[in-house]
Amino acid sequence: MKIILGITGGVAAYKAADLARLLVNQGHRVRCILTGAGARFITPLTLSSLTGEPCYGANPDQGEWRANPSIEHIELARWADLVAVVPATANILGKAANGLASDLLSTVLLATRAPVLWAPAMNTGMWEHPAVQANLTRLRSFGHAVVEPGEGILACGEEGSGKLAEVAAIAEAIQVHGTPKLPGLSGRRVLITAGPTREDLDPVRTLTNRSSGTMGIELARAFRDAGAKVRLVLGGDGPAPWGVETTRVRSAQEMLEACLARWADSDGLVAAAAVADQRPEAVSPEKVKKGDGPETLVLVRTPDILAQLSAARRPDQWVLGFAAESENHLNHALAKLKKKGLDAVLVNDIQGGRGFGAQANTLTPLTAQGPHPPLGPLAKDQLAQAVVQWWAQRLEARPD
Ligand SMILES: Cc1cc2nc3c(=O)[nH]c(=O)nc-3n(C[C@H](O)[C@H](O)[C@H](O)COP(=O)(O)O)c2cc1C
Repeated sequence: MKIILGITGGVAAYKAADLARLLVNQGHRVRCILTGAGARFITPLTLSSLTGEPCYGANPDQGEWRANPSIEHIELARWADLVAVVPATANILGKAANGLASDLLSTVLLATRAPVLWAPAMNTGMWEHPAVQANLTRLRSFGHAVVEPGEGILACGEEGSGKLAEVAAIAEAIQVHGTPKLPGLSGRRVLITAGPTREDLDPVRTLTNRSSGTMGIELARAFRDAGAKVRLVLGGDGPAPWGVETTRVRSAQEMLEACLARWADSDGLVAAAAVADQRPEAVSPEKVKKGDGPETLVLVRTPDILAQLSAARRPDQWVLGFAAESENHLNHALAKLKKKGLDAVLVNDIQGGRGFGAQANTLTPLTAQGPHPPLGPLAKDQLAQAVVQWWAQRLEARPD
């Protein structure tokens, strides 16, 4: 994405340098525009060094009044796929809400047709002032996104709301707001399971598997970015993605209960969790002592979450499953598709340790019509986007 990062005159301006670096590392192109007050807090040299792009602003050598036949504010407004203002002062919010264009950043904000995102930061009194809140309401009515500030101790020494949101959360919000929404998924409620489950043996020991949950978490992000309202039921310790309603669970039984509670008002299910097939027959309340000689652990089957949800589905609901197979993978996956009544299975060939935690991965979509061209090898975030695009196209082609 080509991102214009507007930086205005608040103490949190130094955090914009971290954000610029993070966005560049994520593969975006970033051009910064500093306001005159912003340039009192952070230098153009820092920003252009981090982004590898020119930094624009009020200084004569930064473009605002440079003799340039391309007319810089229009060129920048057209160049951007998204304009983010981080941190946003009360002043810039007021100007943009009222259509004022008194410097390069406010003029670009008025001229651009790209999505706009605000991350305000200011003293609590300023933040709570009805004028600032009214300006934000107006900006939201233009379709702009606002990443609300958090609470904490502010630079002015006061404690309260107005602290710039976390840089990582702002980067996620930029990803969400800047990604085109996909018809077929936009506004739809998608239930996603991810991560390993843990079946306890006693207070210290547990049976689990090598799933990191990364693929399911990236799928949650990709469905969210495509416009879906995502509910994630997450086993393991993976991070809950921003903007996704996440419920943490431990065992297969807990995962089943969390999914059943959300299934009736979901449009689709993506079952990416690596659910334990077995659990210990008995859970000991005390740590099991070691005995003499051979010891036997009796296992019983856990509930089949995918089969139960698929059996309870309405005709308008869709179900995507995953199959991690180490041999004869397409045949095993086809059997799973038929047995559990799925719309598609994404087949992960895990031979030789592939798929689990590994960075790059390949998934082969399989439907009742047979296998489709493989997606990948790609890093898991890009692979998740490829899965979402593949599935959105099929949903669009589906008769209502
Ligand atoms: C030390 C200092 C810190 C400031 N911090 C903030 C702030 O966090 N948020 C804010 O809205 N204004 C803050 N201001 C006030 C703005 O800098 C001032 O309103 C300025 O006109 C904003 O211009 P700009 O929006 O064009 O960058 C601060 C001013 C100073 C001197």
